Amino acid sequence: MKKSKGIKYVTKKGGVFWPSDAMKEIANMSDPKIYDKAEKNPVKFWGELAKGGLTWEKEWDETYEEKLPYFKWFKGGELNFCVNCLDRYLDKPKAIAMIWVPEPTNEKPIKITYGELYDKVNKFANVLKQNGIKKGDVVSIYLPMIPQALTAMLACTRIGAIHSVVFSAFSADALKARIQDGKAKILITADGYYRQGKKEPLLKKAKVAARKTTIKKIIVVNRIGGKVRGGKFLDFDTEIEKANSYCKPEIMKSEDTMFLLYTSGTTGKPKGIVHDTGGYATQAYWTCKWNFDLHRGDVMWCTADIGWITGHTYAMYGPLLTGATTLIYEGGPVFPNPGRWWKIIQDNEVNVFYTAPTAIRMFMGGDKKWISKYDLSSLKILGTVGEPIDKESWMWYFNKIGGGRCPLIDTWWQTETGGTLINTLPGIGPFVPTVSGTSFPGTRHAIVNERGGAVPKGDSGFLVQQSPFAPGMLHGIFNNHKKYVDTYWKKFKTMYDTSDGAYLQNGLIRITGRTDDVMKVAGHRLSTAEVENAIHDNWHVKDCAVVPMPDKIKGQVPIAFVVLKWRKSSEKLEKKLKKHVDIKIGPTARPKRIFFVEDLPKTRSGKIMRRILKALLINEKPEGLMTLVNPNSVEKIKEVVSARS
Ligand code: WT7
Repeated sequence: MKKSKGIKYVTKKGGVFWPSDAMKEIANMSDPKIYDKAEKNPVKFWGELAKGGLTWEKEWDETYEEKLPYFKWFKGGELNFCVNCLDRYLDKPKAIAMIWVPEPTNEKPIKITYGELYDKVNKFANVLKQNGIKKGDVVSIYLPMIPQALTAMLACTRIGAIHSVVFSAFSADALKARIQDGKAKILITADGYYRQGKKEPLLKKAKVAARKTTIKKIIVVNRIGGKVRGGKFLDFDTEIEKANSYCKPEIMKSEDTMFLLYTSGTTGKPKGIVHDTGGYATQAYWTCKWNFDLHRGDVMWCTADIGWITGHTYAMYGPLLTGATTLIYEGGPVFPNPGRWWKIIQDNEVNVFYTAPTAIRMFMGGDKKWISKYDLSSLKILGTVGEPIDKESWMWYFNKIGGGRCPLIDTWWQTETGGTLINTLPGIGPFVPTVSGTSFPGTRHAIVNERGGAVPKGDSGFLVQQSPFAPGMLHGIFNNHKKYVDTYWKKFKTMYDTSDGAYLQNGLIRITGRTDDVMKVAGHRLSTAEVENAIHDNWHVKDCAVVPMPDKIKGQVPIAFVVLKWRKSSEKLEKKLKKHVDIKIGPTARPKRIFFVEDLPKTRSGKIMRRILKALLINEKPEGLMTLVNPNSVEKIKEVVSARS
């Protein structure tokens, strides 16, 4: 598709937005009948999609096998993921696979062709092999948004190694826990990266994390001029230069594990979400085709970091699976000024832009001139993800960034689902502010009550997924069957529990947010229990509860309530506790405030009533005081909170 600019891709009808004829014309999917067709036989439907979208070495024997709580897609089928991203696009080796935009403005963006990426990935795959990595081994990747991250991830998939990417802003402790859980043999990291004009060191954290673990070698990308030598350390580029240029792809079973990605649940320990190969690839491919309408040559910019699932599926893999171009940007959104993102869109003619509501809210508060300065007419589709988006932010994004021309899709999904699941398709519509929309063709969701029965239309309830479960869905929690069952299958047995609330608005699904103790802080998923555990490490802390508080930009921020043993509270101690959260998890999890209180509201069985704390923070009248053993605590906490607000 070549790029006519500024086309109107939406039209307004009945108060909502629909795809215009121009959109329907170019869209990979514009037939509303697709939903019914898929619904008749979802398994057959996905079988056809898997065949049509991917290159298989061997066809499967059984399209779908369900033995709850587990299920398998394309059983017996064989393929290599890397071949699907690279080898099959070598008919046009000069097409651009990736545009990398470094943060420092004196460094030029780099365009990497499919041919060049293929070469690097093959070589790096050989480097991994020479260092003893075999099919099924876990490789930890702790890298910033630099091209080597993609090379490393793809190289793992080429040889059938399982990658486990850890967000570079996470702490050494967080990385160590993930290395240990996966028993990784190799750690791939960088000396550092640029963020908001500063050099951010990374290797120091990586070294601490790798100490006394299964890590045998640390492969380091030189990004900020640091040198590594000898011992455990290898230099990424030097090793690539020495390596052979072809690595035979390892043929994998469709249901073989491709990667682990750790995410927060309601307990203090992050869980390793297991994703397979063929099912994940199928959903990544088709959601890119139909949601983001990717064609070969289109440029997609998903602003998510590779440390999160959105970065895996839409900043890295999805665009390549479809032969498109992915843009990745190393640095901060407002460096050197608030026009940076919009300049990147203009200069690189980005067609599809996918970001989080928290970023939109941040830009809304800024000066308009930083946007109007730039030509954004290359844009075709906008997307949002990660948390509910309010109407004002939706309209601002649609009008100011999309020029009122582009479909804006609000995609609901999770680390566990691998790819998007609920949103309207740009070629079909409608695009309604704050509403995610419909289940992706071939998937089924319902809104149910506590017992799993359907709620009356329009009422709020629990969002569940029904059989057959989408191909991109998780295949368990790494080495933890019990947690997998307890988290996703205990409540509704035959339906997957998303832990989100939702209701239907004119037949479309509107997500209301988490129903468990998971917070979304600037789109990042964190559990209150993880932060509580970190605070509990301090010897002076007797009791502690962390709850999310609404925040204008970040959506939610963690607030801690701490009871001390006998020491007096002080600013020094507050700082120390915050610092300790940085060390245990990372700065994203740092409580915005710590309230020192005498007691926490508890039930007779000792359960902390976080709901009451939440209500106090937003000045609402707390309910359920009758069930407390210490109702007096609430009045006192209220005083502490209002004294500091
Ligand atoms: C949770 C999953 C994979 C997407 C990135 C986050 C919330 C996600 C939406 C949306 C409202 C959303 C849910 C979900 N969420 N997308 N469009 N509207 N809420 O993945 O870190 O695993 O978080 O993000 O609460 O359960 P994640």
